[in-house]
Amino acid sequence: MQLKNDLILRAARGEKTERTPVWLMRQAGRILPEYREIRNKLSGFIELAQTPELAAEVTIQPVDILGVDAAIIFSDILVVPEAMGLPYEMVEKRGPRFPETIKSEADVKKLRVADPEEELRYVLDAIRITKKSLDGRVPLIGFAGAPFTIFCYMVEGSGSKTFSKARKMLYKQPELAHQLMRKITDTTITYLQAQIRAGADMVQVFDSWAGILPPGQYLEFSLKYIEEICQAIREVPVTVFAKGAFFAREEMGRLPCETIGLDWNMDIAESRRIIGPGKTLQGNLDPCALYGTDEQVAEATRKMLDEFGTSRHIANLGHGVYPDIDPEKVKIFVQTVKEYSAKKRG
Ligand code: CP3
Repeated sequence: MQLKNDLILRAARGEKTERTPVWLMRQAGRILPEYREIRNKLSGFIELAQTPELAAEVTIQPVDILGVDAAIIFSDILVVPEAMGLPYEMVEKRGPRFPETIKSEADVKKLRVADPEEELRYVLDAIRITKKSLDGRVPLIGFAGAPFTIFCYMVEGSGSKTFSKARKMLYKQPELAHQLMRKITDTTITYLQAQIRAGADMVQVFDSWAGILPPGQYLEFSLKYIEEICQAIREVPVTVFAKGAFFAREEMGRLPCETIGLDWNMDIAESRRIIGPGKTLQGNLDPCALYGTDEQVAEATRKMLDEFGTSRHIANLGHGVYPDIDPEKVKIFVQTVKEYSAKKRG
C-alpha cells in the first residue's frame, strides 16, 4: 500500500519534507468526545482495546478530527505484562492495577515470553484493520513500553510517584531485576516485530519513568535493553521517548534508532547539541501550553518550530495530551505546525 502522506517517515529518516509532520502522544482516546461515546458502550478500556474493529475506529478518529500526520494504534503499554501472564485492571479514574506483582525468582520463572500472534493477536488484528481503513492516508505508529517502565508496573503493581518498591529491587535484588527485564525485552522485541509485520509503519518505545533513575542505573537497567530493541528493529524507523532522561541524551544520541523524543523540560538547542545532527528530534511543547488562549497556543507552537528548525523534526507535545484539554486547542496546535512550518520553508 502506497502512503499518500509519508511526511513523518521521511522526517524520521532525515529526508527533506515540505513541512514539519505533527501528531500527539495519547491522541487516541483521552480527549475526544467521539472516543468516550464508543468507550461508554463497553465495560471499559480493556474491552475496547480487545475489540479490534472498535480499537481501529478510535485509532482513526484523531486523523479525521484533528488532522494529524500519523495514527497510533489504540492499545496500552500494559498489554505486554498481561501477555506474559500478569493480568491488569483499569480502575476508573485511578489507572492501572496489577492484582499480583513480581517479588521473587519463582514469580519471574512463571512468566512466559509471549507469542504475540497468540496472546496479543487482538492488537495485531486491530493494526491490520486500521491499515485497511486508513487506506494509506497516513502512516500507523506501533508502540511498546520500554522494559524498565513495564518493570516498574509489574513490581509496583500500580502507578506511583516514586516507584520505590520497583526501585528497591534494583538495589536489593539486581540479578532478579535483570532476569525480569530480560523476559520483558524478549517479549517486546517479538511484539514490535509482529506489529511491523501486521502493518505498523514506524514504532515508538515509551520509557515514561526513565526520569526516576540516577544516570548510572538508567544506563544499566534501562538504556541497555532499549538499545537491544533498537538493534532488533531495522525494518521501520524507531522513536525512543525517555521522559525525564535529560542526563542520558548523549547516550541516546548513539542508539541505533532514527528519532529521540524530547519532553518539555529539555532545552531544544541544548538537546540538539548533545544528541548531535544524526537523529530526528520529536516534541516538545509543554502539554499545559494547550490550556492557553488560541493566540497563546499558536504563539508557543511557532516559537517551538523556530527553535527546532526546518529539518529532522517531528512536532509533538513533550508528553501525552492531558485528558481535559479542549480538542479545539489541539486543532490550533496541529494547524499552526502545518501552516507555519510550510511558510518557513517557502
Ligand atoms: O497514544 C495513544 O493515544 C494510543 C494509546 C495509548 C494508551 N496508553 C491508551 C490508554 C498509549 C500509547 C498508551 C501508553 C501508556 N500507557 C503509557 C506511556 C505513555 C505515557 O503517557 O507516559 C503509560 C505509562 C501507560 C499506562 C497507563 N494506561 C496509565 C497510567 C493509564 C491511566 C491514566 C490515563 O492515561 O488515562 C492508562 C489508561 C489508558 N491508556 C487510557 C487510554 C486511552 C484511559 C483508559 C480509559 O479510557 O478509561
